[in-house]
Amino acid sequence: MSKKNTALEQVDLPGVQNIILVASGKGGVGKSTVATNLAVSYAREGFRTGLLDADLYGPSIPILFGIENQQPEVKQEGEQDIMIPIEKYGVHIMSIGFLMKSQDPVIWRGPMASNALSQLLTSTEWGDLDYLIIDMPPGTGDISITLAQKLKGAMGLVVITPQKLAVADGLKATNMFLNEKLNIPVLGVVENMSYFVPKQHPDEKYYVFGSGGGQKLAEQTQTPLLGQIPLVQDVSESSDHGRNIFLENNELMINAFQELGYALRQQTQMVESKKQ
Ligand SMILES: Nc1ncnc2c1ncn2[C@@H]1O[C@H](COP(=O)(O)OP(=O)(O)O)[C@@H](O)[C@H]1O
Ligand SMILES: [Mg+2]
Repeated sequence: MSKKNTALEQVDLPGVQNIILVASGKGGVGKSTVATNLAVSYAREGFRTGLLDADLYGPSIPILFGIENQQPEVKQEGEQDIMIPIEKYGVHIMSIGFLMKSQDPVIWRGPMASNALSQLLTSTEWGDLDYLIIDMPPGTGDISITLAQKLKGAMGLVVITPQKLAVADGLKATNMFLNEKLNIPVLGVVENMSYFVPKQHPDEKYYVFGSGGGQKLAEQTQTPLLGQIPLVQDVSESSDHGRNIFLENNELMINAFQELGYALRQQTQMVESKKQ
């Protein structure tokens, strides 16, 4: 159970083994897609997995899971209302979208946004988890920094697209984590939409967005390139319909996320052991 916190106090989630903050320098690179499928992949492998959608300017996780019309159950604990995450595909899901149903997120600024995220963190009953994956707010500004600052023991994961020009954005996200204010270890880089594989020709790869961005960012930040996720037509089509790609049985994606999950797990263990 999380403990009550004031603005600057850290949130301790003692039942959660690994907190992974999924960030990107800019929107649209596949942060939510990676966070979602990584979570589903881990849950499929039997890990107790939570997914927190903290992207208050575009909370897309409820849509990706087809639960946008549901509300988490609330229970009373002393003075506090505690929310129980919604479970789907084995993943325990909480979204800032559940808290801001009728409000216009555009008016949420600075402290208000940070307070809402704090409330979400402190009033969710995560229970015991192997992984809590967090879809971070967009960009690398104050709201992201404040959220990351609050989470004790969190580790960062950076998503970029394969263009060389995207490296600058990836660097922003990496530097946010490494900033002395946060000092959060970066586990590595995920390159999303790395190559296109046509449905009819599953053995062919087309590097439609160029290539090398992930590798270059990894070299520059001295972190590993943990995974390359293909660009698959099914993904955007099924996301738009509120279904998860794993239900489409897309082998390519299942494999890509299994490999990413494995590499990430190794890296997490290595970073943890260095801390001790
Ligand atoms: N690997 C992929 N293959 C196909 N479409 C993808 C892939 N990753 C993301 N997309 C699509 O790109 C768009 C942006 O992805 P999203 O995960 O919402 O990005 P972000 O959370 O970074 O803004 C969505 O329509 C999503 O379905
Ligand atoms: Mg998103």
